[in-house]
Amino acid sequence: MPFDTDLDELLAGVVERARPIASKGAVADYIPSLQSVDPDEFGMVMVEMDGTEHAAGAADVPFSIQSIGKVFALVLAVRESGADDEDGGDEASFWDRVGREPSGDPFNSLVQLEHEQGIPRNPMINAGALVVDDVLLDHCEKPAEMMLDLLSELAGEPVDVDQTVLGQEGDHGNRNLAMAHLMASFGNMHNDIDEVLDLYTRQCSIAMTARQLARAVRFLANRGEDPATGRRIVSPTVARRVGAIMLTCGPYDAAGEFAFSIGLPCKSGVAGGIVATVTDELGICVWSPPLDRSGNSIAGRAALADLSERLGLSLF
Ligand code: DON
Repeated sequence: MPFDTDLDELLAGVVERARPIASKGAVADYIPSLQSVDPDEFGMVMVEMDGTEHAAGAADVPFSIQSIGKVFALVLAVRESGADDEDGGDEASFWDRVGREPSGDPFNSLVQLEHEQGIPRNPMINAGALVVDDVLLDHCEKPAEMMLDLLSELAGEPVDVDQTVLGQEGDHGNRNLAMAHLMASFGNMHNDIDEVLDLYTRQCSIAMTARQLARAVRFLANRGEDPATGRRIVSPTVARRVGAIMLTCGPYDAAGEFAFSIGLPCKSGVAGGIVATVTDELGICVWSPPLDRSGNSIAGRAALADLSERLGLSLF
């Protein structure tokens, strides 16, 4: 064990200290499935590179991964478009269509897109994720299935879309549709917009547990190779780049605060999940539904800060 401490005991303490903080946040209320979730649910899991799992609380309760799916979509789009080829592939065209800078704006903001000619700041905000999904549709026959296959493989068990969440997300797509149309007006959308939106809402609606997500991000901590199977998912370069984008852009306009208090690549979703990676050490997921104003799990963030402080995990 790389850590000179009892990780199960430490995790249990982290969760108990963070639990009360959930009452300061509010669950997402834009669809009934998220609005009706028990705000007291709290699960946290760490998986070491050798497969040892440390879990506390509701580690095995599924929730929709929402924007955490953006990480896996990015990994697949970079790989499938050839943007990670050693000779560069069509790297230039991929990164010409979506940037790598933090936005400083909310995840669903339209403002910057107009100013910046339909090129989203990064792949972690909604507009960027829509471009990523457009790239996936350009390069893959069945991208939705490909994403489920990848997540199932990484989680070590089958995962699927929550059809109830999918139906409700579908009725709530106006803002994302507006972004896609705006990008199309700048020539930065190649496929049918309804198809892009369908892929995006499907990836948001995938149901996974904290345990499954902690396993699923481990390949990023392991320089692109899934430690469970030894299969290379992406090159070390791509794993490092995706980690950099998670660190600087994953928690949206709170990315600076996350770097300040946690100091790890993180990605959050509006269902209250946050994943984090510790290179060569851990895949981590925390789930607590109430959110802060930037749309990140308020107690999940506190738990990650506490964990990072106690184990000295920050990159800085
Ligand atoms: O795109 C949407 O509006 C929702 N499915 C929310 C995605 C998400 O998790 C954004 N941020 N936290």
